[in-house]
Amino acid sequence: MARAGLSPVDKLTDTVEHVARTEDLSVRIPVEEDSEDEVARLSRSFNSMTSALASSRELQQQLIADAGHELRTPLTSLRTNIELLTRSEETGRPLPPADRKALLASVKAQMTELAALIGDLQTLSRSDAGHPADRVEVVSLQDTVEAALRRARLRGPELTITADLQPWYVRAEPSALERAIVNILDNAVKFSPEGGTIEVALDKGALTVRDHGPGIETDELPHVFDRFWRSPSARALPGSGLGLSIVARTVQQSGGEVSLRRAENGGTVATVRLPGAATPPPDLDPDDAGSQ
Ligand SMILES: Nc1ncnc2c1ncn2[C@@H]1O[C@H](COP(=O)(O)OP(=O)(O)OP(=O)(O)O)[C@@H](O)[C@H]1O
Ligand SMILES: [Mg+2]
Repeated sequence: MARAGLSPVDKLTDTVEHVARTEDLSVRIPVEEDSEDEVARLSRSFNSMTSALASSRELQQQLIADAGHELRTPLTSLRTNIELLTRSEETGRPLPPADRKALLASVKAQMTELAALIGDLQTLSRSDAGHPADRVEVVSLQDTVEAALRRARLRGPELTITADLQPWYVRAEPSALERAIVNILDNAVKFSPEGGTIEVALDKGALTVRDHGPGIETDELPHVFDRFWRSPSARALPGSGLGLSIVARTVQQSGGEVSLRRAENGGTVATVRLPGAATPPPDLDPDDAGSQ
């Protein structure tokens, strides 16, 4: 693109025209480090502008990918429930009234969840939504886990989910944190055997979710947080392999860590550790620290 023998202003113009034509934001204008003339300053401003645009574009792409993932989970659940209801209509074999009632309640809940997700997306797409780092606030992890549990329970109504939660306050983006926890719970629900039990505990900032499903092979554990990775044995179940990569990013953004391991006597334990405190910061009323 840059032709030899061009003046610095021509080189700058060429690059700007190239970016305008191709929308390629990876281009940088070479600038001598010690040069302070007008063209050098303009080139540096141009370089910082394209890198700011590139990172904002990356955030947007991530948002779209994450949104696709989050919308798919309630949609899959909705489809399964509706298929069960239709099959019963078509075969003339009525479902037990309690099952039918539970299915319809779940359909309604998944639709509410879809509507809420679309609302979140609309908020995030507004130009004044700001950078994710600006949406960080003090959040009660206990309340967030409870909200996530309400959502996950609707997707596995026949499972028993127990919870023992001690207060813990963290700094995080509230809705992203709740989505991360929902993703871990959704995995536990998805991989649980029928009528199985899931134990959830929160103690001193360590959240554990233990299921009694097939567990994960030791040699597969290093891959679970990779985008799109799914174990060969999981491929019969719905999913795209994005859930845990979203969890890992959110947890890292809050300065925490997440890990999965095989549980003793079978099943999986997922652990999330987040830095925080057992009491909210003094200037904060505990009632305001919820994730609603
Ligand atoms: N609780 C669990 N029990 C057994 N295997 C698990 C569990 N959680 C995760 N895995 C394994 O890790 C893989 C990646 O999990 P991840 O949540 O990223 O994707 P997914 O659940 O398959 O799809 P998605 O979350 O996009 O719907 C799973 O496909 C599965 O192989
Ligand atoms: Mg998942």
